[in-house]
Amino acid sequence: MTSFILRGFGLYAPEKVLTNADLEKIVDTSDEWITTRTGIKERHVAAEGEASSDMAFESSKQALAEAGIDPSELTHILCATFTPDSMIPSAACRLQEKFGITGQMCMDVAAACSGFLYALQTARGLLCLEPKAKILVVASEVVTRRMNWEDRATCVLFGDASGAAVLTAGEPGDGPEVLDIMLAADGSLGDLLTVNGGGSAYSYKLGEAVGPEYFVEFQGREVFKHAVRSMTDISEAILERNGLAKSDVDVLLPHQANYRIIDAVGRRFDIPEERVFSNIHKYGNTSASAIPVALAEAVHTGFIKPGNLVLIPAFGGGFTWGAALIRF
Ligand SMILES: CC(C)(COP(=O)(O)OP(=O)(O)OC[C@H]1O[C@@H](n2cnc3c(N)ncnc32)[C@H](O)[C@@H]1OP(=O)(O)O)[C@@H](O)C(=O)NCCC(=O)NCCS
Repeated sequence: MTSFILRGFGLYAPEKVLTNADLEKIVDTSDEWITTRTGIKERHVAAEGEASSDMAFESSKQALAEAGIDPSELTHILCATFTPDSMIPSAACRLQEKFGITGQMCMDVAAACSGFLYALQTARGLLCLEPKAKILVVASEVVTRRMNWEDRATCVLFGDASGAAVLTAGEPGDGPEVLDIMLAADGSLGDLLTVNGGGSAYSYKLGEAVGPEYFVEFQGREVFKHAVRSMTDISEAILERNGLAKSDVDVLLPHQANYRIIDAVGRRFDIPEERVFSNIHKYGNTSASAIPVALAEAVHTGFIKPGNLVLIPAFGGGFTWGAALIRF
């Protein structure tokens, strides 16, 4: 095997849009506060009954169509999510069922906002074992179901979406090539960003009401600081490992958690704003989906051009973080 090629990209966001003005009616906040602190103007919210695998089905169909690959040709389905339809079965199995296919290895990947890069790296590993594999790498998050709508510090930041891509082996020049991925984690910082409720350490008894621990909770300033530092450090490391300089990067496409985090990373890499991709104003933080949604949009709108070297840093709960280098 020579290269890891991304064959197609897809994205899906639920129809319902919740604007900052809508949020002003739910919690004590303002469009001005949300915009200046985060860059977010609106986010999508899944419809009643719409689950992760429903959204993944839509983004995956798009990615497969673009790749010219029939679902029946897939050998593996990896779904990055912290909001699967259920604990069992996995969202990946539910997605497989929706495609009406059987036999593939199906697995959810839990690495919060870094999940897509973790899944993509897993796919690269699988391709080393099975070079003929055709792997659907999808992220899908219904984050709003894990929002405490009474907590203004968290509920204004997130939204629902799904993004997908198909990875196969190939030759350089066959398509966007994943040159390298680096991943890391530090579990000792895990309590700074949590969704505890429902886990085995925070289980509920029959009939018991859930408390705030059921929802996303974080220490914003601490997360902010670590996000900027970790994404910067690992981006520098991946460039160095590949003998590349900051000036070689054509497009920076970071995880979309807060525009100020994106901007801070861009500044540290001396990458002008017009070469930093951000769509956070439309989606908010969609966790693992943010990177594949951004990739699909950046490719489909021509923001990323053939030949571009794209640097993709990610950061999320765990803490987990990582960076990918893709040559388009
Ligand atoms: C959450 C975040 C936007 C807050 O921005 P910040 O500049 O750090 O804000 P501060 O901590 O200074 O909060 C300032 C004030 O705003 C208030 N505030 C919080 N949310 C608010 C809201 N939605 N509307 C209005 N005021 C709000 C706070 O209560 C605080 O008030 P106080 O000073 O009277 O106590 C920012 O820290 C962040 O993006 N952190 C990372 C987010 C994250 O965890 N992402 C997921 C992981 S990738």
